[in-house]
Amino acid sequence: MKIVIIGCGHVGLVSAVGFAELGHQVVGMDSDAQRIELLRAGQPWFYEPDLAELLEQHNGNRITFATDLKEALVDADAAFICVATPTRPDGRLNLVYVEQATHNVAESATTPLVIVEKSTVPVHTSKRIIEVLEMDGKLGMIEVASNPEFLREGAAVRDTLDPDRIVIGVRTRGGTAEQVLRGIYAPLVERTGAPLLVTDLETAELIKHASNSFLAMKISYINSVAAVCEKTGADIDEVARGMGLDARIGPHFLSAGVGYGGSCFPKDLAAFLAQAADVGADMSILDAVRRINREQRDRIIDKVKQAVWNIDGKTIAVWGLAFKPGTDDLREAPSLDVIPALQAEGAHVRAFDPAAGQIAKSEFPTTDIVADAMTAIEGADALVVLTEWREFAAIDIQQVKDALRRPIVIDGRNLWPVEAMAAAGFTYLSFGRPDVVAGQVKRAGRN
Ligand code: UGA
Repeated sequence: MKIVIIGCGHVGLVSAVGFAELGHQVVGMDSDAQRIELLRAGQPWFYEPDLAELLEQHNGNRITFATDLKEALVDADAAFICVATPTRPDGRLNLVYVEQATHNVAESATTPLVIVEKSTVPVHTSKRIIEVLEMDGKLGMIEVASNPEFLREGAAVRDTLDPDRIVIGVRTRGGTAEQVLRGIYAPLVERTGAPLLVTDLETAELIKHASNSFLAMKISYINSVAAVCEKTGADIDEVARGMGLDARIGPHFLSAGVGYGGSCFPKDLAAFLAQAADVGADMSILDAVRRINREQRDRIIDKVKQAVWNIDGKTIAVWGLAFKPGTDDLREAPSLDVIPALQAEGAHVRAFDPAAGQIAKSEFPTTDIVADAMTAIEGADALVVLTEWREFAAIDIQQVKDALRRPIVIDGRNLWPVEAMAAAGFTYLSFGRPDVVAGQVKRAGRN
């Protein structure tokens, strides 16, 4: 089938290579001419595992990049809108690019096709898309569908080619839009057996915000339980394991720590809350989710103070700046709050991140960003871990101890077993687990 992708950002480009891999003919479009030039040369403008390889494999044959929309849309089965939906100061999404893209498609299309909204949008965006098409006299020739994405950064290609589910929202069950979308996803369903759920437009739109908010809620929930563990002597790792064995709960997204960041959860929660307020529905549960997540960043500073006493004048090493491992993305990362808070208390911060180091240099102008993990901790008064990069856990803890001026670790991602840190003689504070003070495990509520 022939697919046009409008907006070659994270979602658009990954979807483009995914569709090409499924055997479709894909045309990528973007308003940024420089981006298009890079893509034509086979260079994705951001890093995502397997993306460059797949692009190279299909570039010039199954995928082409174009700037002339009219030509690209000829005989296309679908145009996927994958443009940015930036957050406005009040948490609502700015949908101006979605509107523009819809108008552009409506004005340029000369053959029947389906407009598919893939950008994360609030419920009723499809209604507005339909109104635009009506206004432009194209509704009917152009159909509308919603097909939310569920890709994680750092695993986006894998999530595209092996999804948990495919969600398609349409105006009319069994109509053209459903048939086209089913056709596009047929090779994927055949290959993976992924369930394909067809709903009305509003339902499909809501599934995306409801899913991301639920995942964020799981994280804030486990972080709240972790705080109870700290007061009672229970161990969050075991609690999470015990909970996760219940199939109704599941084992994922129960890792306690400094909380979530990234471009998706904070943005989607804000948008979902704003939408609920607009329609007069009570989603106050998400207010708590956000507040708890914000407080995790204060809690880690409290832990640093508990461990080092006065932060003023101390050199604090930070491992991990990106919002999660496998990406150089700093958006809404805990480091953006934690490092300035340490500096405001008078700390000299020396930080390392395996991927985000270069970008961090401009984001943290007063922070000493160093080129490797060991340099960061050399002679430091304490180490604070903010991202669970695998290579951190692989470093011998004895080496960490020898490099630090004092063997103090405040672990925002529960990287190491408490017993091992105690045996090595650390003062080790993590989340939802007993404190270790100078090699002694201190369990609250127990002797
Ligand atoms: C998230 C969703 O997982 C995707 O399904 C969705 O498609 C995407 O948003 C989106 O809306 O585009 P992403 O933000 O890339 O994906 O990252 P996640 O892997 O979900 O992690 C989000 C944050 O939660 C990270 O900061 C991570 O450290 C944190 N997290 C995750 C925890 O603190 N604890 C956990 O147990 C799991």
